[in-house]
Amino acid sequence: MTASTDDHSPAVPFNARPLIELGTGFWGAKTLLTAVEIGLFTVLGDGEAGEEQLRATLDLHPRSSRDFLDALVALGVLEREDGRYRNTPTTAYFLDENRESYIGGWMRQASKHLFRAWEGLTESLRTGKPYIGWDSEDFFERLYEDIDERRSFIAAMDAWNTHIAAELAAGLDWTRHGTFVDVGGARGNLAATLLKAQPHLQGTVLDRPELAELFEEHMRRRGTTGRIGFTTGDFFNEPIPPADVLIFGHILHDWDDGQRETLVRRAFEAVEPGGVAIFYDRMIDDDRRHHATGLLGCLNLLVVTPGGSEYTVADCRRYAADAGFASTSTLPLFDGLETAVIAHKAG
Ligand SMILES: C[S@@+](CC[C@H](N)C(=O)[O-])C[C@H]1O[C@@H](n2cnc3c(N)ncnc32)[C@H](O)[C@@H]1O
Repeated sequence: MTASTDDHSPAVPFNARPLIELGTGFWGAKTLLTAVEIGLFTVLGDGEAGEEQLRATLDLHPRSSRDFLDALVALGVLEREDGRYRNTPTTAYFLDENRESYIGGWMRQASKHLFRAWEGLTESLRTGKPYIGWDSEDFFERLYEDIDERRSFIAAMDAWNTHIAAELAAGLDWTRHGTFVDVGGARGNLAATLLKAQPHLQGTVLDRPELAELFEEHMRRRGTTGRIGFTTGDFFNEPIPPADVLIFGHILHDWDDGQRETLVRRAFEAVEPGGVAIFYDRMIDDDRRHHATGLLGCLNLLVVTPGGSEYTVADCRRYAADAGFASTSTLPLFDGLETAVIAHKAG
């Protein structure tokens, strides 16, 4: 048979390259995650360095240091000119630890935990359970046992919510609202950003008691001590403080469908008439076909949580309508990787 295009061998009717590149996609992922883990992008910062210098600074063996750096060039995350390496504008912005826009905290978690958890995908697909050791009933209790793990996890969350907070602060008409509660708001990073952008707001973070200390510490760092309240509580079983705006960021996807419905119902009860509840997650397109990172996100939640999964925008609208919200609107976030569904309660 003769090939109809030039980009595959004439003897083969189809192009194997996309399959091979997808099947070895973890090579590229692990190369990037390792570069973040050893601090390559931070070492480069806004400057440049040769291979020998990077090898010495990062303690790399000469056998593969050049291959490693050039692979990162080929992957589009480093630039090289006359044998000297530097960050691309994007990696300088997102992967230099000295920048507030750093998202490497999340990548470090991915490198340390998710990479291992994905090894158990076959098993998890058969059992419906996360990978061994992560299958305790209370996912967060296990995660927070170790203070260093707790810190890394929260830093990983902040890597995303820093950007999302800025978009939410700019994307909604906050003049209509006076109070907000960030439900499961971790150490208050999103709340602090929102308050700085919209100083007329009064904000409260509701989260587990294990995060109280990290909250105080982070408020000092952000210069918002005393301006945001912290309420310890269980959002399933304890009262959610009433407010004009309730934010549920990366909360619903940690739980199963029935638990998500419960949380949205609880949101409806707590939000003031005329107010809104905001749910943001890596929601899937309604046709469940286009948003690959959303669908892969479901598998990611399979291997790390007892019941979580991503869900479609239509699912979220349904939870909101069933709970009693009058209408919903959506706001794309973080380059379309995420979506916020904004549920309006009648006044
Ligand atoms: C995936 S993190 C999301 C953090 C933050 N909202 C964000 O967007 O980055 C989930 C948060 O929910 C909190 N959480 C989990 N279970 C909770 C519960 N039952 N009651 C209150 N907070 C809870 C966790 O401590 C954690 O801060």
